[in-house]
Amino acid sequence: LDNGLASTPPMGWNDWNAFGCGVDEQLVEQTADAMVSSGMRDAGYRYVNIDDCWALPNRDAAGELVPDPAKFPHGIAALADHVHARGLKLGIYQDAGVHTCSKGGGFSGSLGHERQDAMRFAAWHVDYIKYDDCNVPADGQNVDSSIARYVAMRDALAEATAATGQTIVFSVCEKGDYGVPNSAWPGIGNLWRTTYDIHDNYGRMVWILHQNVALADLAGPNRWNDPDMLEVGNGGMTDVEYRSHFALWAEMAAPLIAGTDLRTMSPATREILTNRDLIAVDQDPLGAQGRPVTDGADGHWALSKPLADGSRAVTLFNETDAPATISTTAAQLGLAPSVDYQLRDLWTHTTTESAGTITDTLPAHGSASYRVTPSRWPSVGTPPHVAVGL
Ligand code: GLA
Repeated sequence: LDNGLASTPPMGWNDWNAFGCGVDEQLVEQTADAMVSSGMRDAGYRYVNIDDCWALPNRDAAGELVPDPAKFPHGIAALADHVHARGLKLGIYQDAGVHTCSKGGGFSGSLGHERQDAMRFAAWHVDYIKYDDCNVPADGQNVDSSIARYVAMRDALAEATAATGQTIVFSVCEKGDYGVPNSAWPGIGNLWRTTYDIHDNYGRMVWILHQNVALADLAGPNRWNDPDMLEVGNGGMTDVEYRSHFALWAEMAAPLIAGTDLRTMSPATREILTNRDLIAVDQDPLGAQGRPVTDGADGHWALSKPLADGSRAVTLFNETDAPATISTTAAQLGLAPSVDYQLRDLWTHTTTESAGTITDTLPAHGSASYRVTPSRWPSVGTPPHVAVGL
């Protein structure tokens, strides 16, 4: 969506993966505080996003959405103030249908209330909407209706911005239920989900990778494929697998929405989530999504992402259950011929020289990531030796 609000993939946090329906004001405030004290904000994370279950099930007499007073006793506007005071932005979840997605009936959706709700979110100073598409009427379960529901909210948000000055990132959370082609979303959302929900296990993460990696043509500034929020730190994968998860998401220019409890995360989780070299890959201004150099059919992947300075971000990934040696070359990566290349290891943050081959022996489910830059041809080299005064 060409609104200038997501020139690089959004970075932030969302409660859903770690807390499900358990969101409340205290969690959001403490998370905003932790985002600052942990260094996440300084690493680039901005959005603190409330997911489903924040509202009362029903609207009030004026048709307005009402935050559950037991969970948000001070309301959403006060929470936005808390978040904004820390240099962060606030996001919220809503649904394009009659009810939200959460089990047990859900909470009121925005169908038929798009303009009223967009104005409400703007009045609360909400900066980001994740907009789902659950529980739609029987006659709305088709491609055209789904698109129309999202266009209605896109346009309502634009009107609310025009009226109030409050800008709002639009995160599309339709997951393929009605056969809407992914190519419909770049004109509608700043990001759009490309798969069903991630779960905190390796198989599911890889299942998402396979689908999202094929959609590189669609991605670019202000329009990003969204392979769902990060599970890093939630305990269902090893740190080797979480490193691969994070590196692959960065390689695919995915939104980096942390999904763990930032107040209690381990040093290893923090180190992964704040890896500045990988964040720089994700946030590179060119906005290209990485593509496989090989087809990954044997589970041995080499992904390459062009970067604005002409270098490439490479992730070698061993999807298989046995150790493997994986290689690629500068030529395969599409780099200009050069005498040698600088190879920056994005986990150890050290740089070595390479003649053009990149190779690693990786454990099962492991990965390695590099930034590969052609070195200059030696300009003239050492001048020919001139015997002076002999
Ligand atoms: C859907 C979304 C999830 C989460 C839940 C909330 O499943 O894909 O990310 O927002 O709804 O109910």
